[in-house]
Amino acid sequence: MIYANYAATAPALSRGVVNELYGYIGGIHLNGGRNFEGLEAQALALRARRAVARLFGVSDPLRVIFTGGATQSLNMLIHGLVREGCHVLATMMEHNAAARPLEGLRKNGRIGLDWLPCSPEGFLDAEEVRKAIKKNTRLLVMTHASNVLGTILPVTECFRIARAQGVFTVLDAAQTGGILPLTMGECCDALVFAGHKGLGGLAGSGGFVLGEALSGEMRPWMSGGTGSASGSLAMPDFMPDRFEPGTQNTIGILSLAASIEEILRIGVETIRERERGYTARFLSGLGDIKKVDPCGTRDPDRCVPVVSVVIRGYDAGEASRLLFERHGIITRSGLHCSPLAHQTGGTFPGGTVRFSFGGGTTDAEIDGILEGLSAL
Ligand SMILES: Cc1ncc(COP(=O)(O)O)c(C=O)c1O
Repeated sequence: MIYANYAATAPALSRGVVNELYGYIGGIHLNGGRNFEGLEAQALALRARRAVARLFGVSDPLRVIFTGGATQSLNMLIHGLVREGCHVLATMMEHNAAARPLEGLRKNGRIGLDWLPCSPEGFLDAEEVRKAIKKNTRLLVMTHASNVLGTILPVTECFRIARAQGVFTVLDAAQTGGILPLTMGECCDALVFAGHKGLGGLAGSGGFVLGEALSGEMRPWMSGGTGSASGSLAMPDFMPDRFEPGTQNTIGILSLAASIEEILRIGVETIRERERGYTARFLSGLGDIKKVDPCGTRDPDRCVPVVSVVIRGYDAGEASRLLFERHGIITRSGLHCSPLAHQTGGTFPGGTVRFSFGGGTTDAEIDGILEGLSAL
């Protein structure tokens, strides 16, 4: 088997993470904040908050909120930040995790919404942000990198323009957490992360970091028990409890703590360099294969390790199936939860075969994929 679907989910947890999880599952398994013993779970969560805070250069770990993943985080942030009649900007590269809640609000007449246009390779000119901002623009939501084209968006530049005009900024770092070096303070007001991709945690883990600027602006979209301020019918006004109702996914949170600590030991720069090498090798090899057209940028410095291709004469699903059956290559095919990106890249509705690389990828695997594609 050659696993080339890291952009969807990391295939296996590292040995060190698995060992930690076994120890936890076989031992104490309690509900943070709900009883004396639950302090253990709170301590685990604090360890994970510290790891996330270090990874994204955040000084206060209590600003790290854990949720069921990037989708839940984006919904919480979007619904918690918009106000009736406000205007929101997002890019044509957004994943449906952001695009659907935004479009739902627009359809119900609650917000105005504009999609910032990108080039067919997925590039965005930051000046588009300046042109699109209106008097009532309240929020700019941007993915850091397209999950279809791999292209990295100029988020720092776009957010600088937006923040200078009083627009709040939300970064979807689902495709870049643990993959690209990133310091939140210099960049955005809120940062969303997915646990099960570059961060190497369990599926169903993830969260967001809420910057100081949003403290009084963000309303809880979900409410419930927190084990704190229990005499009140309102959510607590302090972090992180304000945005963490219900029993937390402690096993997922522990997987994040253990995995991010490993990432910090290796260094995101080192990971980036290694994965950039796989993308470069793959893109260069594709140049020698006829009838396989890469979508997005061909510059490995400008993308994450995600390369979508169109194979002329083949339906994307059929090509993906043949690669698996004949060569054991696991890809993702079709539309990748981002119809606007496919429309921009000219691959709607047929979709693409998407190859994505990560921690377990090797040069030999890249060569194996190229051979499989050549044979096809
Ligand atoms: C850019 C982007 N945002 C959000 C998500 C959703 O992440 P999660 O699975 O954690 O909800 C994905 C997952 O593919 C993604 O690629």
